[in-house]
Amino acid sequence: MISTTGEPVWTGSRPPPWFMGLIAVGLHAVVVSAATFINWLYRSFLRPGKDLAQRYGAWAVVTGATDGIGRAMALELARQGLHLVLIGRNATKLSHVGKEVQKAAPSCKVMSVVFDLGGDTHDMSRGVATVAAAVEGLDVGILVNNAGATYPGATYFHEVDTQVWEAVVRVNVEAATRITRAVVPAMVRRRRGAVINVGSGSSVVLPAFPLYAVYAASKEYIDKFSRSLSTEYKQYEVDL
Ligand SMILES: *[C@@H]1O[C@H](CO)[C@@H](O)[C@H](O)[C@H]1NC(C)=O
Repeated sequence: MISTTGEPVWTGSRPPPWFMGLIAVGLHAVVVSAATFINWLYRSFLRPGKDLAQRYGAWAVVTGATDGIGRAMALELARQGLHLVLIGRNATKLSHVGKEVQKAAPSCKVMSVVFDLGGDTHDMSRGVATVAAAVEGLDVGILVNNAGATYPGATYFHEVDTQVWEAVVRVNVEAATRITRAVVPAMVRRRRGAVINVGSGSSVVLPAFPLYAVYAASKEYIDKFSRSLSTEYKQYEVDL
């Protein structure tokens, strides 16, 4: 029965069967989609422990681990049951994040490598050698190349200090490439692993990023590098 206001009303004490049928169908759909959603959420983000470690390996390496995305990734990976090699340039901050990690995930083993990815050539080769030595013999399943550098502010290319743009190239291009090179061979041998390169919307979304030219170009490098490696290493079960 339809009321004068157009609203359906129940005349009896019990809703008609067709309505119960609709409710049943609707509820079923809600339950199924909620279950799918929760399952997806659980698989992607919440399932504790063994999955990421089993799928990829027991350890994760995170660069730029002291702040922002890197720190958040480190904490999340630890909660997921991985042990961590944290790379950053500031020893104080690294040890602080290490403590935070162990508070969040007491069984997590944490190693720290102090490495200024934007430093000079000497820092670079010493840092990469230290990382290579640190991961030697560890079952590194995940590498997060998160560290990134940019200009302090919007600047015409010809006015960017040489040290500034060199540091951008070193951190975003050279360090990411060298650290990947140090970590990937063992992944290939084990036929499992994942490399996560943190890119930037500046290279994907914007056709050009004036006044941040070197930064944007370096992120474009990371984008192409990742896509190409993804194809190269598919056959070795290494995900990029
Ligand atoms: C390292 O981080 C600490 C704490 O945030 C800060 O006080 C210190 O100046 C930093 N050291 C360097 C060399 O940047």
